[in-house]
Amino acid sequence: MQHFLDINKTSPKDLRGMIDAAKKIKDARHGLPKGALDQDLPLEGHMVALIFEKPSTRTRVSFDVGVRQMGGQTMVLSGADMQLGHGETIADTARVLSRYVDLIMIRTFEEATLLEMAEHATVPVINGLTNRTHPCQIMADIMTFEEHRGPIQGKKVVWSGDGNNVFASFAHAAGQFGFDLTFTGPETLDPEQKFLDEARAKGVSIEIERDPHKAVDGADLVVTDTWVSMHDPQSARERRHNQLRGYQVNAALMSKAKPDALFMHCLPAHRDDEATSEVMDGPHSVIFDEAENRLHAQKAIMQWCLGA
Ligand code: CP
Ligand code: NVA
Repeated sequence: MQHFLDINKTSPKDLRGMIDAAKKIKDARHGLPKGALDQDLPLEGHMVALIFEKPSTRTRVSFDVGVRQMGGQTMVLSGADMQLGHGETIADTARVLSRYVDLIMIRTFEEATLLEMAEHATVPVINGLTNRTHPCQIMADIMTFEEHRGPIQGKKVVWSGDGNNVFASFAHAAGQFGFDLTFTGPETLDPEQKFLDEARAKGVSIEIERDPHKAVDGADLVVTDTWVSMHDPQSARERRHNQLRGYQVNAALMSKAKPDALFMHCLPAHRDDEATSEVMDGPHSVIFDEAENRLHAQKAIMQWCLGA
C-alpha cells in the first residue's frame, strides 16, 4: 500500500507509470457510457472514503465515478458532518476509517491534516488538495499536455498569476517530469521558495519573470488559476484582484507564446478575471480535457496506491 501525497514524494518512474496507465484506462473506455464498468474491475470489493472539508465539483465527481467504474464503492463525507469537525483527532479518525474502508481521499485545509491522516491510516491516503498542493490535478494536466503535444520533458511551462497550491504541484512536477517552469506574478504572491529550490536541484530551469509578456515568450503551455483560493480570506479579494489584474491570460498574452501553445486552468474559473472567455473557449484551451483527465489519472493513482 502506498500513499499519494505529493508529486515530489513519488518516484519519476512510478509517476510515468501512472500517466501511461491513465492513457490506457482512457482508451479502454472509448465509446462506453459513463455508467459502464471497466472490463477488469480493479477495485471490485473495495470501499473508498472521499472526505471534503472544502467545496468540490471535479474532485468529488471524478473520484466517485472512477471508483464505481472500477467496480468499487464510495462514501462521500463532509468534514463538518464527521466527528473530525467536532474535536476528534485526525489520528483517531484515520485509525477508525482504516477499519472500514480500503482507501481514503481527503481534501482539506492544512497540509498537516493530510500528513497526520497518512501517518496513522493503515490504508492508502490520497491528497485531493490542501492549502499547499494539488497533485491529482497536475497528474491530469501532464496527461492532457502529452495527449495534445507529446512528451512534456524539456518543454516550457509558464504560470501567470498567484503562486498558489496548484502552482506548487506544477513545481514538483517540473522536477519529476523534467520541464522548465516560469512563474510570472506580483512579488507579494510569489510561490514558496522551497518549491522553486527543490525543482532547480533536480536540474530544470525555474524562473521568476515579473513581466508576463516576457515570461510567455516561447511558452509551450500557459497556465493560470483563480486569484482567490478557497483558503484565502475573502477580505483579501480586492487587494489580490488589484495585484493580479496585469497577469490576466488574454488573447494579447497568448499571442506572445508559441503559436501552438496550450492554455490550462484547473477550474473553477472566474471568467474574465484570471483568464478571458476568449482564451478559455479559444483554440489554445484544453480546460475540459484537463477536467476529464482527472477521472482517468486518478483511476491510475488509485490502482497504484492499492497495487490493484
Ligand atoms: N480542479 C478542481 O480540483 O476542481 P474542484 O474544486 O471542483 O474539485
Ligand atoms: N487554487 C484553488 C484550486 C481549486 C481547485 C483553490 O485552492 O481554491
